[in-house]
Amino acid sequence: MTATLAKPPSAADDWTIPQDWASYSENEHRVWDRLFARQIGMLQSRASTAFLNGLESLSLSRAGIPDFADLSERLHRLTGWRVVAVPGLVPDEVFFDHLANRRFVAGRFIRKPEQLDYLEEPDVFHDVFGHVPLLADPVFADYMQAYGLGGLRALNFHSLEKLARLYWYTVEFGLIRENGALKLYGSGIVSSFGESMFALEDSSPNRIGFDLERVMRTQYRIDDYQQSYFVIDSFDDLLHRTRDADFAPVYARLENLPDIAPDAILVEDRVIHRGTQERGYAGAKS
Ligand SMILES: [Fe+2]
Repeated sequence: MTATLAKPPSAADDWTIPQDWASYSENEHRVWDRLFARQIGMLQSRASTAFLNGLESLSLSRAGIPDFADLSERLHRLTGWRVVAVPGLVPDEVFFDHLANRRFVAGRFIRKPEQLDYLEEPDVFHDVFGHVPLLADPVFADYMQAYGLGGLRALNFHSLEKLARLYWYTVEFGLIRENGALKLYGSGIVSSFGESMFALEDSSPNRIGFDLERVMRTQYRIDDYQQSYFVIDSFDDLLHRTRDADFAPVYARLENLPDIAPDAILVEDRVIHRGTQERGYAGAKS
């Protein structure tokens, strides 16, 4: 999400572009296959059940970069969502409007073979492998739509930074408790080889029980693995806290409270793991 962007002439009014699946090269399909194989073995024991079920029900294990048209057909049958291609980052109001209408925007390009761990901006592997499996889960699918609707409302409150933190610490970097064990569901984690292990097993980051207002006050890192991860109890709980909440008084209350540093622990936190923060984090980010 970002503010002032110029729409490329090739994009439609809603910023979508054709995926042009036929134009992917063999090498590009092979990069997808390498990334997929590398993640899938590790995620069997680490990813949330909903994520693994989504991979299965959407047939995402088929070789090659998925064709958005086929994928959308399968996804639409399950939860009414579709995947549409965009040229890159899109303006906030465009992003929220797509989510509010159950359309997930995805980049169409894929990283180079020599950049498996390096991403300047989200590519099709992050966007489709990372995000789309959970959209096959009816409750998470509703959460994403509720987030889009909340985003459209937040445009009037100038509270996008706070709402962006909710997205960051849930959709991108969330953990969930399943049968007493922590599992991964955030797309930024499940699409990253290193962070999939770091987020669950490393002693460095904090793992803290999810609290909506706490998360909205917490700064995050875009230049390194996260220093804190927030753990939800269920997607149902997350959905109800988001869809059923009136954010206007929340935003008003948060206006008067200071932001929280990415590595901080508060006395009122439900601490699941107090991180050592021994990982040498990259440059300061406010
Ligand atoms: Fe993402």
